[in-house]
Amino acid sequence: MSPDDADTGADADTDATRRSGGEEHGTEPADGTEPDDERDDEQEDERELMEEADNANPEGDEPGDENDSGRAAADAAREDLAASLTTLGFVAFDGQGTDNTSSGVLVSEQLRRHFRRDSYVGVDDAEQGITFLGRVVEGPFHSPHEIGSDSAISRTTLLHPDRTMFRPTYYASGTIEILGEVGPDESVRPTSTRPRPYSRTFIYPAERLRRMLGLEGDMQLGSLLGYADVRVEADSGKKAFLPRNVGIFGTVGSGKSNTTQVLMEEALRAGWAVVVIDVEGEYVRMDQGNDDDILAAVLREQFPDRLPRGIPDIRVYVPNAGETEAPDAMTFKVPIADVPDEIIADIMEFTEAQIRMWGTVTSQARRRAETEPQRSRMGILGSAPGWPPPTAAGPSDTGAARRRPYTLSTLIDGLTEGESGAPPLLSPKLSQAEKSTASTLRNKLFALARSDVLDWGRTTSVPYLAVDDLLVPRRLSVLDVSETNDTARNIAIAFLLQALFERVIEIPKGTALGPGRGGRPPVLVVIEEVHTFVSRASAGRMRAVLDQLQVISRRGRKRWMGLALVSQQPGHVPEELFELANTRFIHQLKSAGNLAPVRATTGGVHEALWSTVPALGPGQCLLTGSIFRNPVFVQMRPARSRRMHTA
Ligand SMILES: Nc1ncnc2c1ncn2[C@@H]1O[C@H](COP(=O)(O)OP(=O)(O)O)[C@@H](O)[C@H]1O
Ligand SMILES: [Mg+2]
Repeated sequence: MSPDDADTGADADTDATRRSGGEEHGTEPADGTEPDDERDDEQEDERELMEEADNANPEGDEPGDENDSGRAAADAAREDLAASLTTLGFVAFDGQGTDNTSSGVLVSEQLRRHFRRDSYVGVDDAEQGITFLGRVVEGPFHSPHEIGSDSAISRTTLLHPDRTMFRPTYYASGTIEILGEVGPDESVRPTSTRPRPYSRTFIYPAERLRRMLGLEGDMQLGSLLGYADVRVEADSGKKAFLPRNVGIFGTVGSGKSNTTQVLMEEALRAGWAVVVIDVEGEYVRMDQGNDDDILAAVLREQFPDRLPRGIPDIRVYVPNAGETEAPDAMTFKVPIADVPDEIIADIMEFTEAQIRMWGTVTSQARRRAETEPQRSRMGILGSAPGWPPPTAAGPSDTGAARRRPYTLSTLIDGLTEGESGAPPLLSPKLSQAEKSTASTLRNKLFALARSDVLDWGRTTSVPYLAVDDLLVPRRLSVLDVSETNDTARNIAIAFLLQALFERVIEIPKGTALGPGRGGRPPVLVVIEEVHTFVSRASAGRMRAVLDQLQVISRRGRKRWMGLALVSQQPGHVPEELFELANTRFIHQLKSAGNLAPVRATTGGVHEALWSTVPALGPGQCLLTGSIFRNPVFVQMRPARSRRMHTA
């Protein structure tokens, strides 16, 4: 058992010490034996090798410990394996431009029909006594045997096949990415060598791949591309998966939303709370089963334990003044006191002078609230329903039962010149410049108020968003911001992130959120089209928002709060955000502008694999992350739940 399997509850920062190319398999005993598949066949006629079943090495000649029945079973398994192998070809000499993780393979005329890119292969190196695991990443390339590929004869036979009887025979070649050495326990370990020329390459048996590649867990994501029978799974209990944050990238129609849905379904199933910022209103009917006949049929045929089904516990929220197609959506407003000052300043594009005054006004309002709780509680323009009474000790519907020092009304009033001439929240002696700053700041606050997502007069009867209601195991909370103005959407996102983060920091996973409340679950927060929240272009003036995301992702992951950032325009996603997403689902990306930033920030992917990304089909993706030993191509499974098609 690896240290990660244990939930230590307390803030065990184990994730900082694990991973990094290395493996968690160091603890497994290495018994020093190697599979000894038939080596003496090498000289035999290829025609015998090609099809079936090079016979297993009959003498299982490992020394020692015959009593160990586990060992005997392993030997038997190895023999079975050897018996089922299909030879692909043999490792070639190195040419120019070779690198440490690539080996050329030559495939004879008789064997070339086994050649498929993306197949997993074993490489049996008799000289070094190592079996490597590899993956075909390039090819097949074809060369004639007897003649030059651009000779006159080859040209003639190709240009006029109908006139020429002679067909030069040809062989195939390709490149194998060497993924590591196969250990006796079927783990794949990093290697410090490469296969020798003449090493036999064989198609790796599909049924052994899942364990080898470390694709086992409770979350069913899909199947290995090209291997419909090999499930790709991940472990919801590993901090290195969801808590290390997820990036889902891909062009329009590449399958991002489906992947997002799958991830949410699986996290919910594993007891997580999931919150999604739904910019297109497409997740609001996830309470129902998938109604797409084709996709539902795929589930029935390939994922019988993931039949179409809705999410039992779903809540749809819509910011006040927004709209939604969900039947029972709850409208909410946001307490301005719970949105960090700097973030309001970013979103409203305050000037330096305005930022300073904004700081004065909010801190003055806070101070007043401490000394005059009565007055601050009510504000002037409007009261704040849902406000917990100052004596409230029990849980309230506003999440943490804490007092909020002010509302947006309080601040607008505080900037409004009273009878004495001075705005109540500012010093009585203002310069002319300060007066003008106060006036423009007040105008910006009015503009903010008109977004109708915050607490002021017009939203008096709208309840605050109750954050603790989102932190319920297996509950999906959808914030439908599809019909919400940009300001309201951004405020809602910033508030939500901050409020969830603070609760998650306050209450360790598994600890009750309050009297009568259950234990706090791990939480996944999905932000769709994240580049509309902060983009490369706006990153400069959205510093506070970026900082907030960075802090949340760094500290949140230790507390089991994971972010999933989705974007169809990775080229517009600020670099800082890429670094946050360790687990990546990279769907089809065609343009260099969108592919380049993803490629530049994704480690451990063989160069040749990137050429496949522009050609991926719907639902296919390159999946990378520290919990996977190697990046894998995945055919994601269809979502079980329904999606609204909005475009
Ligand atoms: N895993 C999948 N398996 C089969 N079809 C899929 C899969 N993912 C997506 N599709 C198909 O592709 C279409 C577009 O997928 P979608 O998730 O909406 O892409 P995006 O969000 O990237 O625009 C879907 O309507 C569906 O028909
Ligand atoms: Mg989409």
